[in-house]
Amino acid sequence: MRFDRAAETASGADDEDPDMPPLTEGQRIPEVTFRVRRDGDWADLTSRELFADRSVVLFALPGAFTPTCSDKHLSRFNQLAPAIRVHGVDEVICLSVNDACVMDAWRETQGVTEVRLIPDGNGEFTRGMGMLVDRRANGFGERSRRYAMLVRDGVIEKLLLEELRPDGTETYGVSDADSMLAHLASLSPRAKPPT
Ligand code: BEZ
Repeated sequence: MRFDRAAETASGADDEDPDMPPLTEGQRIPEVTFRVRRDGDWADLTSRELFADRSVVLFALPGAFTPTCSDKHLSRFNQLAPAIRVHGVDEVICLSVNDACVMDAWRETQGVTEVRLIPDGNGEFTRGMGMLVDRRANGFGERSRRYAMLVRDGVIEKLLLEELRPDGTETYGVSDADSMLAHLASLSPRAKPPT
């Protein structure tokens, strides 16, 4: 996998534009390193490990433990992840600008077994995606916009991005698991969901 575009967009690039617009279909995801918890210790996990030579559905949301994110976005993706994988997707990932301890606690509390939760605590991936937004009105600081995307070998093939309202809140209606599954089904209509 080539990550040329990612290197340009990742946080820390000299020419980084803090207000860059969201990446779009056909562009490469940012190249970053996430700090995760593994076997009771801190570990690095690179975006390259997650995306290179793989098909991945990633959905991102404003925050762990928040109502819509827990009750709708994450829980429905957890339900539909097996059906999504039938369409040639290797993994379903949920990303939020939260630290690894929070994301792990959220996964356990929600009983999530089918979705991998990735902490973007420093917001580097989210900034590189052009998805970092001001959620100070909620006391959140900067968080991710709500979106879902299908990424093949590091390239965004399909992006489902919620509308950002003038007051800083967002819609919830295009980045949901059912919409992503419907898109995948339109690409490979003969794939049968698991029984
Ligand atoms: C939510 O319900 O998902 C939510 C609530 C407040 C801020 C951001 C997200």
